[in-house]
Amino acid sequence: VHPSLEIRSIRIADHYQEVYHLLHQLHLHELSLFDKTATWDDIGTGYMRHVIQMQEENDGLCLMAYVGNAPVGLIFGYTEDEDDDSRIEVYKGMALYVSDGVVLAEYRKSGIYTKLNAMLEQHYIDKGVKRIIRFTLHNNAKMQHFLQKEGYNITRLQYEKWLY
Ligand SMILES: CC(C)(COP(=O)(O)OP(=O)(O)OC[C@H]1O[C@@H](n2cnc3c(N)ncnc32)[C@H](O)[C@@H]1OP(=O)(O)O)[C@@H](O)C(=O)NCCC(=O)NCCS
Repeated sequence: VHPSLEIRSIRIADHYQEVYHLLHQLHLHELSLFDKTATWDDIGTGYMRHVIQMQEENDGLCLMAYVGNAPVGLIFGYTEDEDDDSRIEVYKGMALYVSDGVVLAEYRKSGIYTKLNAMLEQHYIDKGVKRIIRFTLHNNAKMQHFLQKEGYNITRLQYEKWLY
């Protein structure tokens, strides 16, 4: 569908504005699903600092999808060390945490995210990762459908009580 689609591994700190813009779009989508989502203007800079730090310190990989040199989507993940004797699960070793994923609305439904996700997973599977973790909002039906299709299962439900 997009013959010029190209996926590149990027260092977030070197592509700050492109990543900022895409994460802003992701954030607006989260806001549309959950009204307690903070305003991007308030948290954008801090969130960027967080993803940059995770990429540098936790073997993070950010894959950016370009169509004709315009960034149209990204996926970002990093490793979490599960080798800790306080864990309650059987798994020990590195887990991949998929932290962010978005494709611009006008480029959706053409397989871009499927490709980004497959490449991200394979990168860490090649390094020996056998557990992949991710969160999504309870009402993000599209993402849940995608995850079920890609072999993920629900393990926990997070309940919250908001007192205001
Ligand atoms: C979720 C999201 C990243 C998916 O991106 P995407 O690039 O549209 O995903 P894909 O195109 O790979 O797959 C989506 C659908 O398009 C279908 N598709 C893939 N290639 C296709 C093609 N060539 N023609 C038609 N449909 C196609 C897929 O089968 C899939 O359909 P399904 O959901 O019915 O199975 C995107 O919708 C998005 O950015 N949403 C908002 C942000 C968000 O929710 N992020 C995740 C937060 S946890």
